[in-house]
Amino acid sequence: MKKSRIKAAAIMCASVATVMAQDLPQFGVDPIPDIIKAMTLEEKVNFVVGTNRVLELPPDAAPGMPVRPFPDFSKLQQDADESSEADIVEAVTGFTKGRVKGAAGDTYSIPRLGIPSFTLADGPAGLRIDPTRKGDKNTYYCTAFPTGTTLAASWDGELVKNVTEAMGNEVKEYGVDILLAPGTNIMRSPLCGRNFEYFSEDPVLAGNIASAYINGIQRNGVGTSIKHFAVNNQETYRNGINAVLSDRALREIYLRGFQIAVENANPWTIMSSYNKINSVLAPANKYLLTDILRGEWGYEGFVMTDWWSEGSGADQTAAGNDMLMPGTQRQYDQIINAIKDGSLDEELLDRNVENIMRVMLRTPTAKKLSYSNSPDLKSHAATAREAATGGMVLLENKDNALPLRPKQKVALFGNASYDTFVGGTGSGNVNRAYKVSLDEGLQNSGYTIDTNLGNGYKNYIAAEKANKPADNFWSIATVDEMAVTEDMAKNAAENCDAAILTISRIAGEGGDRKLEKGDWYLSDTELSNINNIVNAFHKEGKKVAVVLNMGAAVDMADWKELPDAILHAWLPGQEAGNAIAAVIKGEVSPSGKLPFTIAKRYEDYPSAANFPYSTNPATTYYTEDIFVGYRHFDKAGIEPLYPFGYGLSYTDFSYSDLKVSPDEESYNISVKVTNTGEKAGRETVQIYVKAPGKDMIKPVKELKGFAKTKEIKPGASETVIINIPRKLLASYNEYDSVWVVEPGMYEFIAADCAADPGLSSQIEVK
Ligand code: BGC
Repeated sequence: MKKSRIKAAAIMCASVATVMAQDLPQFGVDPIPDIIKAMTLEEKVNFVVGTNRVLELPPDAAPGMPVRPFPDFSKLQQDADESSEADIVEAVTGFTKGRVKGAAGDTYSIPRLGIPSFTLADGPAGLRIDPTRKGDKNTYYCTAFPTGTTLAASWDGELVKNVTEAMGNEVKEYGVDILLAPGTNIMRSPLCGRNFEYFSEDPVLAGNIASAYINGIQRNGVGTSIKHFAVNNQETYRNGINAVLSDRALREIYLRGFQIAVENANPWTIMSSYNKINSVLAPANKYLLTDILRGEWGYEGFVMTDWWSEGSGADQTAAGNDMLMPGTQRQYDQIINAIKDGSLDEELLDRNVENIMRVMLRTPTAKKLSYSNSPDLKSHAATAREAATGGMVLLENKDNALPLRPKQKVALFGNASYDTFVGGTGSGNVNRAYKVSLDEGLQNSGYTIDTNLGNGYKNYIAAEKANKPADNFWSIATVDEMAVTEDMAKNAAENCDAAILTISRIAGEGGDRKLEKGDWYLSDTELSNINNIVNAFHKEGKKVAVVLNMGAAVDMADWKELPDAILHAWLPGQEAGNAIAAVIKGEVSPSGKLPFTIAKRYEDYPSAANFPYSTNPATTYYTEDIFVGYRHFDKAGIEPLYPFGYGLSYTDFSYSDLKVSPDEESYNISVKVTNTGEKAGRETVQIYVKAPGKDMIKPVKELKGFAKTKEIKPGASETVIINIPRKLLASYNEYDSVWVVEPGMYEFIAADCAADPGLSSQIEVK
């Protein structure tokens, strides 16, 4: 098909639509029920099934649908000169796919009823769209903001809101309606490949950070899709793995973060997960999507499937999964057929259409807002940088090894010092215009980098990468760590003032990390590099700092005592190098705290016994029940390497004046935080609650609230106030299916991490 014919077809469709529209109810003008009444069955099904159907060609044309059978797409593309896939699909099928190139999904437009096509794109570390477009000189880069874990490690709702306000602005300015984020699954295992997209092992931290995230994005008049609902805690066989868990663990651990976000931030949409929960696929799980989400939580947005979810479109529709993305012919046919044979009630489809329409009325597309395609990427980069520093966690700092004195000469080791990882792989990756490596960041901050070493690394990385396949959606080329010989280390130690060594890991969608050397465990080269570097520099009386550049953790027990300092810098977004350098230089005192526990040994994690290390068996039993993360370490009396909530600062803080004041529905806790050190800094106060645990087994303590101070000057104080809703003290009694707040004496603890006895106050709860 030639371009001219494509255009003619499009013009004809448009004029037919104008004539027909005159007597018909119009979306955005007339009440939704009137629109639904005017829709044919096929239109309704088209509306709930995304437009990407060409990827699954149907054998037969659906009756009454002029758009089927689908064309031989490859043939059309050959004939179509310059026309893009989207042009062809639109002209031939009527689907308006692809307004924003690289967006994950679009909905079907129904011009005769004034229903436009809406656009959905990933998330969560920034907007993911194609940065370039055929025949267009403009670029469409987006900011790679700090990843989810980095944000959570800041324990700072304001910081998160600043980031997501900027991110949401990019969503709006690039013409997207809904961002497919945030990821709010619980970090049940350190091996989950998508942990970098998620927030925490604890639902209260995850839920609060998710709420701030959603509020920031939605403030721009665009939507979010909190995902993956629910119990998607592993990527291995993610499309069908059966997560078997108690109702109590489901409610208290795996759903609670989502519930907090739904109640506090009202995400416009929710993305169901791929996996089964107690043998029922999440997108077809009526208990989850209708009974709990809508019935108990009163959710009024809409639910969409994750992309190409398993299972029947009809079952998903019936269960309350409103939209099916990116939309397959199979799903379309399943819904039509089920309605025609009476196994699916058309009212359920109408219900779903209405849920989607109610949300879509709020989108920029429905409001016909124009967009600039040129967000302020410069100011967003500054926001990304500032946020990244706020999430960094200082794990070790012997004899104040950090901050490094300015202008020193640094021996910079580790591949990722020169090729810093700024995000993970898969849909959570962002097409950014640039990234700042640690090497560049340190130089921008006035440090001199040992050039011999630097050139050695750069040449090595370039040579190794030349033999690797190019980066793709699922993976980016990684290079084995360059070996640092004793001689290299000695030479550097003699010539430089200090050493920084980066240890890195990358992971992402579609696979979990491996319990192997080079992944969970350090490789032999990495271990020998640490030893060689530390020995050589210590011999010269010089310091060594290790930077962890990864979304989660690695095995650390064997080597963490060797260097003088360890900074967990996460996957901190495109401004990585500048942000890490700001902390290393001491422009900012680190104030991040771990959003998960780092164990001494992998086997100490409660999920270790039943993580799915292969696709067989396809069932994961969550036998640890509610005892996830620190709840398990407390209960089993296992000392972690670094506890949940842990993080050092360049200064010190003390807590005083803990007060717990109950009112009708909540507890107000106030704590005075004083900076007793010599540098300005910020502190996160965590409130853990010990319940009586007489009627029900309870964790030793649970995080119920937290607050981060502003920057406190040495000697100064700030009183933080934390509100804990009474209902957050409840546990789920799965025998009677009720939430229960057990009466008795409760202990409220204000602590700087889960292992800190902190200050405590007892209060009777009736
Ligand atoms: C991922 C989602 C993502 C979607 C659209 C899926 O493979 O699991 O997180 O939003 O693709 O790209």
